[in-house]
Amino acid sequence: MNAALDVIVVGGGIAGMAFATRLVDRNDQQPVRVRIFSKAAVEASNSFAAQGGVAAVMRLEDSFEQHIRDTMNVGAGRNDPDVVRLVVGEGPAMIRSMIDLGAHFDSDATGRLQLAREGGHSMARVVHHRDRTGEEIVRVLQARVRSSPHIEVIEPQRALDLLVEGEGTDRQCRGIRAMDLRSGDVMDHFASLVVLATGGAGQVYERTTNPIGATGDGVAMAIRADVDLRDMAFVQFHPTALHTTEPGPAFLISEAVRGAGARLSAPDGRPLMKAIHDMGDLAPRNVIARAIHREMQLTGSSHLWLDASPMGVARFAMEFPAIEKRCREMGIVAGRDRIPVVPAAHYMCGGIRTDDSGRTALKGLFALGECASSGLHGADRLASNSLLEALVIPKRAAGIVFTSAPIEKLRSSRPYRENWLSRRTSAIVTRALGSLRHAMSTHVGIIREEGGMLHTLCIIAMLERQIAPIWNRRRWSPELIDLRDLLVVARSITSAALAEPASMGAHYVEVK
Ligand code: SIN
Repeated sequence: MNAALDVIVVGGGIAGMAFATRLVDRNDQQPVRVRIFSKAAVEASNSFAAQGGVAAVMRLEDSFEQHIRDTMNVGAGRNDPDVVRLVVGEGPAMIRSMIDLGAHFDSDATGRLQLAREGGHSMARVVHHRDRTGEEIVRVLQARVRSSPHIEVIEPQRALDLLVEGEGTDRQCRGIRAMDLRSGDVMDHFASLVVLATGGAGQVYERTTNPIGATGDGVAMAIRADVDLRDMAFVQFHPTALHTTEPGPAFLISEAVRGAGARLSAPDGRPLMKAIHDMGDLAPRNVIARAIHREMQLTGSSHLWLDASPMGVARFAMEFPAIEKRCREMGIVAGRDRIPVVPAAHYMCGGIRTDDSGRTALKGLFALGECASSGLHGADRLASNSLLEALVIPKRAAGIVFTSAPIEKLRSSRPYRENWLSRRTSAIVTRALGSLRHAMSTHVGIIREEGGMLHTLCIIAMLERQIAPIWNRRRWSPELIDLRDLLVVARSITSAALAEPASMGAHYVEVK
């Protein structure tokens, strides 16, 4: 029997699970053992929360060329055209494969898939499961993960750093250092291959649709290990998060609601988008988010309105049950009353630079999903292309790891430090998180300005100096660990934004 290929996946969302399940499908080629390190249950992930769906060419009146054109238009041409062609081309087969695996997507009485339309798409092409597509895909993948004897999910584990050995071109990722969030013990775990699938970093901003776990862990680990990134300047703000005064992640009002006929309006009732873009309420997200942001600044309003009355109450409840329920909890009758909306940080278009199969510049390290930058999205992401990417690239990665990773005798995990966990968060950490988020939202958000970005870099440096002594005391609260990563990611976003020569896609600089 050959030695097993031993793989660590960091992150238990759709990209990580898609990779793990595709890899163990190839177990006949080579025995394989996959350990998924996850800091929280998958229900707390961005993947699970995804409302929209999977963009794919599923109709004769649509074409790969049009999907490619829409992707490149929204990405402002910054995309890698070969990756766009490849991922878009895999769309229909991926949808069929997910259906074969048991995914239920909305279809009409004849069994034809119902397709939603979202921003930047020239036609309806978003395959979905009501407004809970992420949850449906998670359900299918999780069942496969749970039933595989070759996959082990280890949680709650907070990955802290990559273990890298060697120098120069011999540098190789050998594993991860992670903290067990129950015992506080920090261990070094070794593997033939490490796959980062840690999701986004929306928590770097004050208002985000991302869950509290979206703290850029994988990107920060890659930065500390000196692994190449790409396109970090491009952070997508979703135009329509539900406006509330409650703390915590903002609830998303899916763009598919606008695709079904809802319209944005200014505080005085004026339709917002008609005069601004020829795609109106379905313009690329960066255009709409900026228009809302400007209108809010101009009118001093805390939010704008989404009028879904053309759809009516019954249709709204049928097509968007999760959104309808959330609105109802706030006393809003969706499909009749206007919904208060506001932009919120939603998706990191850049990330750890990979090729079209998830390989990074560091041997032994792959990156998948939102923490990675395959080149698909460019300067802004076409709606629902991310779930497609999170299914397609992991499948390709699983196809090549046997030739990319050395099969070595497994080194057993080794304790690094016992109980480093502190259950108490220092007030300095809480304040520092607030200051970081405020600076990023004010100066490196939807509309940026050079002086503000430079000021933000100074704030980041000051906060790093403030937390250094707390970090060195070696009693780390989960908030402190998150802050350490968020500071690294914030610096990367801000420096990348300052280095961009011109406004493009989601990166927009106002010259004063
Ligand atoms: C949405 O449903 O509006 C979000 C979908 C996405 O971000 O791709």
